[in-house]
Amino acid sequence: MKIAETLKALSAQVTQWKQAGLKVGFVPTMGNLHQGHLSLVQQAQSLCDRVVVSVFVNPMQFGPNEDFEHYPRTFQADSAKLNDLKVDLLYLPSVDEMYPNGLEQTRVVVPDALTTLLEGASRPGHFDGVSTVVCKLFNMVQPDVALFGQKDYQQWLVILRMVQELALPVEVVASPIVRDKDGLALSSRNKYLSSAQRAIAPKLNVILQEVAMAIVSGNQNFKALEKTASQRLLQAGFDDVDYVRVCDPNTLQPAMSKQEQYVILAVARLGETRLLDNTLVRVVPSFEGGLERS
Ligand code: PAJ
Repeated sequence: MKIAETLKALSAQVTQWKQAGLKVGFVPTMGNLHQGHLSLVQQAQSLCDRVVVSVFVNPMQFGPNEDFEHYPRTFQADSAKLNDLKVDLLYLPSVDEMYPNGLEQTRVVVPDALTTLLEGASRPGHFDGVSTVVCKLFNMVQPDVALFGQKDYQQWLVILRMVQELALPVEVVASPIVRDKDGLALSSRNKYLSSAQRAIAPKLNVILQEVAMAIVSGNQNFKALEKTASQRLLQAGFDDVDYVRVCDPNTLQPAMSKQEQYVILAVARLGETRLLDNTLVRVVPSFEGGLERS
């Protein structure tokens, strides 16, 4: 695996691949890699001839009270995992390489309707930081295909919208959520859970699935479903619930009745740890005229 720390070194390699007609896949990350990230890499490898992974802890997407300095940086372990997977190139830009003029630079701002609700409500400016860095990374790497996890559903929609509206020449692919055996979505935050908290954590997915089943069975009272789910999370032992929302999967606005698809998004807290999860629900009319989940 090659490692590039500068745009110059990265471009020299990618230009060679492009000249040889090879399809380049790209997986942007902030490191501290787990099987969720690695599944994106594997999917990129199945779609492309060469795969670039970036590890860059992006200061622009952290708020003043969020711990940019303490975000785990595990370069040795990350590069060993990527090397084992035979990734072609690891891009490791420094903050100076990425932001030579500092953070007061040109930004990419996706409209508020998508960026100030849900995760954006508690993290003002977060998605501007994400869209700006991803746009820069796309311009640097020039990939044909880029992969993002469905785990960060809102982030994926923000990127998709940016790519469409700025006509960026890259195909954005969403990759399914990777979970532990008990259903807990993999996240670098899971390691902060005590064993008692870890035992409660999988209930988040269980309760999301209950909401999904209720919708599939024809329940359209989304506000009541959200409220019951929040209560169930607290009863299950979560310390707080930031939100449970049944939304339109394209706009993230509250779901209307009789949609074909829904996304149910939730964030619940165990102590200081915020656990984020979501599930997509597709309701299709069955031959009997009832509803079933696909
Ligand atoms: P990071 O949190 O490192 O995540 C990198 C990618 O891994 C994202 O696309 C995320 O959705 C995906 N991912 C994380 N956990 C996953 C899981 N359990 N299953 C499937 N995919 C999972 O997201 C970021 O970094 C940053 O915001 C970034 C896009 C790199 C911009 O800085």
